[in-house]
Amino acid sequence: MKEIRNINILAIESSCDETAAAVVNNGREVLSNVISSQIELHKLYGGVVPEIASRKHIEKINQVIEEALEEADMTLDDIDAIGVTYGPGLVGALLVGVAEAKAIAYAKKLPLVGVHHIEGHISANYIEHPSLEPPFLCLVVSGGHTHLVCVKEYGEYEILGRTRDDAAGEAYDKVARAIGLGYPGGPKIDRLAKEGNPDAVKFPRAHIEGAPYDFSFSGLKSAVLNYINGCQMKGQTYNPADIAASFQKAVVDVLVENSMNAAAEFDMNKFAIAGGVASNSALREGMKEACQERGIEFYYPSPIYCTDNAAMIGTAAYYEYLAGTRHGWDLNAVPNLKLGER
Ligand code: KG4
Ligand code: ZN
Repeated sequence: MKEIRNINILAIESSCDETAAAVVNNGREVLSNVISSQIELHKLYGGVVPEIASRKHIEKINQVIEEALEEADMTLDDIDAIGVTYGPGLVGALLVGVAEAKAIAYAKKLPLVGVHHIEGHISANYIEHPSLEPPFLCLVVSGGHTHLVCVKEYGEYEILGRTRDDAAGEAYDKVARAIGLGYPGGPKIDRLAKEGNPDAVKFPRAHIEGAPYDFSFSGLKSAVLNYINGCQMKGQTYNPADIAASFQKAVVDVLVENSMNAAAEFDMNKFAIAGGVASNSALREGMKEACQERGIEFYYPSPIYCTDNAAMIGTAAYYEYLAGTRHGWDLNAVPNLKLGER
């Protein structure tokens, strides 16, 4: 693919509970990455409240964009294109970013490039790994998604497997709530699990007949909840750290096993992880070890590029821009946007 020099993209991300803007140069150099998190607000309710998220995005978005430009030492005159997440996600939250991106693109007569949120997560791996190029396999694990994806080319994806029910991050959040850790549960379980025994309780690992790369976490989540209820009914105490460690081991085991089976079947020697759960220490360790054993190059983003951010959207938007993707003034939020659709 011909590289066009010095393209600065202003990227906007507002699909869930982070209002984020970034300036990315030539797809791989992050000049600024500003994230305004709403976690403290949603914590009060134990999860993301969509209407509150939209309202907060509209309050914060101009400020976040201004900070991103300042940090990059740029004005809108230095920007060559606007990239924005237009799906999947919460519709009201997405609309804020999309309307903002369209307004700036319209006022400054700039090209508008809509980006798929998962394409953004996958592209986060390009930021710190300059040599990473497709083809590779990527496991996307976040609060809303669990996808095993073959990245055939920039912007060209084949979904090999996905969750049939809960996303991995969702299971973390629900189990964390059950053991009284609060929202978001992923990082808290990660921390608590370090003090527990991963073999203390044998929780189930789901395998789906005829779909070797699909996942299912709702049975595991129920098994954890049943275990806790059982202990409470019998008046027995349980060790939350052991539950966290045993639950985490069950999640990581299936994620690693399905990933390595896919790498073998598709004869792929590059494997990346992405999304909020990709910052999980047990998953990183498990994947690193499994990849090492098989001679597979393993890639993962720094935690700041794992959870929602706009730098990853800027990177994805750059490759879409090079491929000629341009969206019109009719660009809309698409809450259930499919990966690979334009
Ligand atoms: O990618 P992300 O910010 O948002 C979505 O697109 O969903 O992912 C958020 C999810 C939450 O479920 C959170 O609990 C989980 O990522 N998460 C983690 C860790 N850090 C964040 N899960 C496990 N271990 C972590 N260290
Ligand atoms: Zn995300």
